[in-house]
Amino acid sequence: MKLSKSTTFITLQCFFLISPLAFGDDIITDSSFLFHICSSFDNYTSNSPYASNLNQALDQLISNSPPSGFGLSSVRKDDDLQNQVNGLALCRGDVSSADCKNCVATASQEIQERCPNRKGAAIWYDFCLLKYSNTKFFGKIDNRNKFYMWNLQERDDEPEVFNKQVKRLLISLSEKVEGTKNLYVIGEVEMRTKGMEKLYGLVQCSRDLSSNACKKCLQIAIGELPNCCNDKIGGRVVGGSCNFRYELYPIVDAQK
Ligand SMILES: *[C@@H]1O[C@H](CO)[C@@H](O)[C@H](O)[C@H]1NC(C)=O
Repeated sequence: MKLSKSTTFITLQCFFLISPLAFGDDIITDSSFLFHICSSFDNYTSNSPYASNLNQALDQLISNSPPSGFGLSSVRKDDDLQNQVNGLALCRGDVSSADCKNCVATASQEIQERCPNRKGAAIWYDFCLLKYSNTKFFGKIDNRNKFYMWNLQERDDEPEVFNKQVKRLLISLSEKVEGTKNLYVIGEVEMRTKGMEKLYGLVQCSRDLSSNACKKCLQIAIGELPNCCNDKIGGRVVGGSCNFRYELYPIVDAQK
């Protein structure tokens, strides 16, 4: 797995590549690590108020997110707004609360190892997203923490038709989020090709977003299809507020 290490203060978008080999079924499990971004350049010191608020915020997320698959926490002492820590945890819509808890617990440990002393960071797994910051981000579309993943294999059979079908499926899924409780939608379509091929898709937003903002977030992500996934047989745009994924195989159990 190759990661681009360079992030700048202006754009924290990161782009990286996962080879089909690294994605082989027997090599990784669904709970695997995807990516992390140390999103703040400000640091806190050990044993400071920020450090203790962060610990508390992460503990709260580990206990309050698993039942519903989503949680927020804001921790500060009295009026000490400067040291307020805001955290968010989101599990993939189909993940059990036990798996969710494991994922969030692992994430809170690893985020501190990968971004030691940073005042803001985000970490993604197949099963969950965890992020925290000293700025209050709840309810806002996160345009900064974002990365792409794609299958190296390209579609040789009518790639333009394939690209259009991918886009159409993802748009139709994103239009369904409004009616859902957890802003999570999966779906599949028969491909208009020779065989019995099916295209599978998944879209999800963080539940601090309104359903309108969720749709907007997904529209922006889907708009990035040409940059991320042109002609690719599988791909994802993954952000701090929403993400999509499409594959030629079932992504979650409910699609099997
Ligand atoms: C915070 O720590 C990182 C890693 O040690 C360092 O690169 C960065 O310059 C620090 N930021 C500030 C504002 O000092």
